[in-house]
Amino acid sequence: MSSNKDARIRVVKDGPYMVIGNVPLIREAAVREGDRPPTKWRKVAEYPLKERYALCRCGQTKSSPYCDGSHAATKFDGTETAVRRTRREKPRLIKGPGVDMDPNAAPCARAQFCQREGGIGRLIADSGNKEKRDLAIEIAGQCPAGRLVIYDKIEGAPIEREIERSISVTEDPSRKISGPLWVKGGIVIEGADGEPYLTANSAALCRCGRSKRMPFCDGTHVEVGFNRTDDLK
Ligand code: FES
Repeated sequence: MSSNKDARIRVVKDGPYMVIGNVPLIREAAVREGDRPPTKWRKVAEYPLKERYALCRCGQTKSSPYCDGSHAATKFDGTETAVRRTRREKPRLIKGPGVDMDPNAAPCARAQFCQREGGIGRLIADSGNKEKRDLAIEIAGQCPAGRLVIYDKIEGAPIEREIERSISVTEDPSRKISGPLWVKGGIVIEGADGEPYLTANSAALCRCGRSKRMPFCDGTHVEVGFNRTDDLK
């Protein structure tokens, strides 16, 4: 995890995400060939750097990705329903010869990177091979939700790449779907009650307003075909 210790995100009750501390905001698109799983993220745009800003959480703004107050007009119910963990519990790991993996560290955002190369589970099973091991680590790092955490077999510690504290507004243009806000680098996320959620290297915050595990994305945006056409130009 990187510096900029003041960076934090506060969930506003039935309102937006308040982002504080000069957190860079960019837009990234998943790159796929046809209907195959995506293989990388491509930077599409960079927003002006601001000390603080409010990002839409209800999915109704006309100034995406920023909040324009639509949550009040639509009486958005943003009740936080995610299980609040205060520490990383001992995960049930999928064991491989080179590395192990926690496959369930966060709700699935359905970005599908884990389906590359026949599935990340297969890569873990073949992780005695350095190339497969490295690919598994790369793929886990592409998951915006931080659902897949790879563990070193000797140290027993997570293998996570150092990423700058930033937020990416994600999209999957091939599927014509707008995705969650990808929070990177261990930014503290506080609930509306001021209590922090467990800090993670990656976390996906819902911006369609439909998740059943608020404030985190649970993949519902795919089911409902969340599509901010202004994001997908
Ligand atoms: S953005 Fe994924 S569930 Fe809302």
